[in-house]
Amino acid sequence: MTYSKILGTGSYTPERTLTNTELEQLVDTSDEWIQSRTGIVSRQIVVDENTSDLAYQAAERAIKDAGVDKGDIDLFIVATVTPDMPFPGVSQILQRRLGLNTITAFDLNAACSGFVYALNVADKMIRSGAYRLALIVGAETLTKITDYTDRNTCVLFGDAAGAMVLGQSDTPMIKDVVTYANGDIEGHLTMQGYPIKENFKTPEQPRPFLYMNGAEVFKFATTALPKTILTLLERNGMVLDDLSLIVAHQANRRIIDKAARTLKYPMEKMYMNIERYGNTSAASVPLAIDEAIKEGALKKGDTFITVAFGAGLTWGGALITL
Ligand code: UT7
Repeated sequence: MTYSKILGTGSYTPERTLTNTELEQLVDTSDEWIQSRTGIVSRQIVVDENTSDLAYQAAERAIKDAGVDKGDIDLFIVATVTPDMPFPGVSQILQRRLGLNTITAFDLNAACSGFVYALNVADKMIRSGAYRLALIVGAETLTKITDYTDRNTCVLFGDAAGAMVLGQSDTPMIKDVVTYANGDIEGHLTMQGYPIKENFKTPEQPRPFLYMNGAEVFKFATTALPKTILTLLERNGMVLDDLSLIVAHQANRRIIDKAARTLKYPMEKMYMNIERYGNTSAASVPLAIDEAIKEGALKKGDTFITVAFGAGLTWGGALITL
């Protein structure tokens, strides 16, 4: 039986820092409100880079960290809701730019849960024996679809990319991955794309922006997060004490805080970097895992859970031993 394991990780954030003080100039908000309601102090945002540029840097770093030969990579997945363009996908653009062989390469859209979905797909494709070495990336330029006149959303998002190389393993190091979706027909977290139009007419369309009903998403997130963690533990006969760390999607410090209280799990063992990056959607989980490893918060042999939730509505998690 073949399983999968993490061989290397990498991440990249753009250089420009957007502070809460700067946002005070754009909308009716305050540093105090943003920090106390979200935990965010600043975010990194793109100036002239697109999603593929961020993904490229993160991918190169993960490949270097894994020490693998690019020519051996046979699967490439990019999780994103902010691709450079609808097609070709970021993965297909980067297949050539990264110098990968003509392999299976596709984008995956599951919003902020996108990276956990990509992990699930790559893990199962490796377990099947059909693929041996996967590069998976979560990359977003959320600031492209952020309305900087809407204080409900514009203070939340930043741009980033995170990547992981997965290889074959005799033992299950990626122990379990679960992913779920429940159609958001109420439209709590959406972005208009291609509305139905009258035949043969070319309507003037306003530029689409992200819309979020924050309170509804908050309720969903604070339920989904602890439930997914408990599901993963139960399915694998484990308990919270078996975990070294929980790496949750960085959407709001209060969501992570509430999940920790629900689980009666120490907040120090909930990884946190939201203060520096804000919510970076599909990049959030791989960026946090990469930083946790590089900072020594996660070490070889440690078992941890990563968990995410977002538009779709989608959610999911993974139980991993490094
Ligand atoms: O990654 C995708 C998943 N997304 C999320 O997980 C986001 C989930 N939701 C949240 O994190 C929170 O709901 C928010 C941070 C978006 C909002 O925090 P909240 O504590 O739920 O605030 P609220 O929406 O209930 O609004 C409370 C008040 C409102 O004013 P009134 O109506 O009470 O007068 C808002 O207009 O706060 C106001 N408000 C702000 N005030 C200052 C909303 N945004 C701001 C702001 N600055 N930026």
